[in-house]
Amino acid sequence: MTEPRRLDETFDPTAYGRATSADYDDLYAELDSTAAVDLLAALADGGPVLELGIGTGRLALPLVARGLEVHGVEGSPEMVSALRRKPGGQDIPVVVGDFTEVSAGTGFSLAVLAINTVFALPSQDAQVRCFRNVGRHLRHGGRFVVEAWVPDVGAFRNGTAVRPVTVHEGRVELEVARLQPASQTMWTTKVHLTDQGVRLVPANHRYAWPAEMDLMARLAGLRLSARWSSWDKADFTDHSIAHISVWEKIADEAW
Ligand SMILES: C[S@@+](CC[C@H](N)C(=O)[O-])C[C@H]1O[C@@H](n2cnc3c(N)ncnc32)[C@H](O)[C@@H]1O
Repeated sequence: MTEPRRLDETFDPTAYGRATSADYDDLYAELDSTAAVDLLAALADGGPVLELGIGTGRLALPLVARGLEVHGVEGSPEMVSALRRKPGGQDIPVVVGDFTEVSAGTGFSLAVLAINTVFALPSQDAQVRCFRNVGRHLRHGGRFVVEAWVPDVGAFRNGTAVRPVTVHEGRVELEVARLQPASQTMWTTKVHLTDQGVRLVPANHRYAWPAEMDLMARLAGLRLSARWSSWDKADFTDHSIAHISVWEKIADEAW
């Protein structure tokens, strides 16, 4: 196999949305967002919410329907267009840009970054910039919620892994990944197989363990306040494969 290029040399925050905006909702049709929306609404406590990588509004639109003020940052104009075409999608303020650097205001009660999108950032530096930017958006006591998987390097043999994500009659989704442990990066392609054909969706990752994210949060003045293994608040344990982490702003910078 040829050596892949470094993730941070090829990073383009508009690329994922450009590749998936047309069928993003179909790709995630089986994802039940109810528990996520319930938990986010409770954590927002009636205050304004900022969603990083708002996408087509899977979480934002139901949060608005719960009476919350929701703003977004999104790297892909195509994703924003898909959001705008939905009922209520015109009314959500969205800043188009990279969520590690753009500003969408201040005083938010809650910021959320869902579906492993923190790992779409190509380096530790970029992830630290993301936490710091979130810190600037939150009011004191405001919360940052991240949904991410827990790295499982043991799943790789000779640096590669194939994981069945969905197996149904007529529809199979596989995740095929190649690991570079030295840089904590993974080149990943999701393979969607149906009677209609094959759909390849690249989603490359710079992964981090929860404890590394706690340090990133600390650099941004945020302190861990809760960690669960799912949106319905299941315990986070030695066997958890994903985490929902909540950090609270306690200072303007590192504490
Ligand atoms: C997996 S989708 C999640 C969309 C939505 N949050 C949801 O839960 O369905 C990730 C979104 O983040 C956007 N994105 C990825 N990296 C970004 C960046 N650095 N800045 C802004 N948006 C980014 C993508 O364009 C995409 O819309």
